[in-house]
Amino acid sequence: MAKEKTLFTCSACGGTSPRWLGKCPSCGAWNTLVETMPEAEPGKNRYSAAPFAGLAQAQAVQPLAAIEARDFARTASGLEELDRVLGGGIVEGGVVLIGGDPGIGKSTLLLQALDALQRTGLPTLYVTGEESGAQVALRARRLGLEHSPVQVLAEIQLEKILATMDAQQPAVAVIDSIQTVYSDQLSSAPGSVAQVRECAAHLTRAAKSSGMAVVLVGHVTKEGALAGPRVLEHMVDTVLYFEGDTHSPFRLVRAIKNRFGAVNEIGVFAMTERGLKGVSNPSAIFLSQHSTPVPGSCVLVTLEGTRPLLVEIQALVDSGGPSPRRLSVGLDRDRLAMLLAVLHRHAGVACADQDVFVNAVGGVRISEPASDLAVLLAITSSLRGKALPKGFFAFGEVGLAGEVRPAPRGQERLREAAKLGFSVAVVPKANAPKKPIEGLTIHAVERVEEALEVVRGLG
Ligand code: TYD
Ligand code: MG
Repeated sequence: MAKEKTLFTCSACGGTSPRWLGKCPSCGAWNTLVETMPEAEPGKNRYSAAPFAGLAQAQAVQPLAAIEARDFARTASGLEELDRVLGGGIVEGGVVLIGGDPGIGKSTLLLQALDALQRTGLPTLYVTGEESGAQVALRARRLGLEHSPVQVLAEIQLEKILATMDAQQPAVAVIDSIQTVYSDQLSSAPGSVAQVRECAAHLTRAAKSSGMAVVLVGHVTKEGALAGPRVLEHMVDTVLYFEGDTHSPFRLVRAIKNRFGAVNEIGVFAMTERGLKGVSNPSAIFLSQHSTPVPGSCVLVTLEGTRPLLVEIQALVDSGGPSPRRLSVGLDRDRLAMLLAVLHRHAGVACADQDVFVNAVGGVRISEPASDLAVLLAITSSLRGKALPKGFFAFGEVGLAGEVRPAPRGQERLREAAKLGFSVAVVPKANAPKKPIEGLTIHAVERVEEALEVVRGLG
């Protein structure tokens, strides 16, 4: 294909320049020019030339009522925890973006998944741009997959990848990673915003037109965003994100966006000597093992996706210097500052001259406000130097007025905790069960100060 001349477009004002410039000639903004493909001439579409032919046919307009709704054809990979986050399996024509820190296990998981899918009879293709075929084979040997029928292609040029897809017709293809792929239509380097966006767009089109499922591996920047453009997240159907502490063997795969299933669903894996293994009862791993209760620890029942999880929240309150610090790991820092203000204003507990650290055990990231009450109780427990009773847990959102608001699906949370042998709880009034739950003593509260009062009464 003849190379088209690319343009540089200002992301602030839309002005263009034939060359890259530090400063936009139209609006004067700095560092806003991004390489883009020029507008196609009328009647000519850049997707109509090989190897993109067939990706851009015009479709007739039809009334919604005339369009047949079809369920997505899904294939379960057999890796149960992965299927759970995907919403039941890999979807025909679906595009999945999977992000995470380097070394967390993206390539490992996808190689295992492809092998499992290939064994169910789906033709697969693993495109590796980061590692050589030999390196992939080495990993496969470690995983006990040395005789795997998965097809491997070591290639980074988009046009060649698309041509191979066209020839091989895989049902599932993995691109590891999208940042290494480049199109020779653009002169910018692989991994640049323009390249990542353009390559992802082509691969998405190929998926939609052929029914092939595509999994794009994406890198994560230091700030935690999927590197390159956030726009990738809009293009794809599903965004999965690997979480976890590289020092612990546990890994969480979370669905941030899913057009084919529930968001915030999580799959839990353990990294072993022979790859990632699903963890079917994950609650136990987010609780640290104290033989007797310790001050500054409170168990939270959080609802990640469709499954309740028990997570230990730890807090340490210690006398600070002139400007005390508030740090949180796995929890939102702004929310922590807000909770400390509520604690002071409504319960009269001041931490103004104290350093406050909070941590969610096991490297899990908690974003739901229903964690508020457990965070506050862990903080006050540390401040008083008094442990919460054995078998204690809490959940509930705390508002700025000091009110304790209900958490969604409270009954499920209570039942999960009871199942795991927990016995005492402080929960929002609206979440109190109508009938008592066996083995569970529940203290329903409406206000923060009430919750602290109850806990003081418990010892
Ligand atoms: P990898 O899948 O290469 O990570 P990513 O693609 O996200 O960068 O995972 C690499 C890490 O996992 C590496 O530190 C080694 C470890 N590992 C195991 O512990 N067991 C295994 O069976 C494999 C294949 C890797
Ligand atoms: Mg990798």
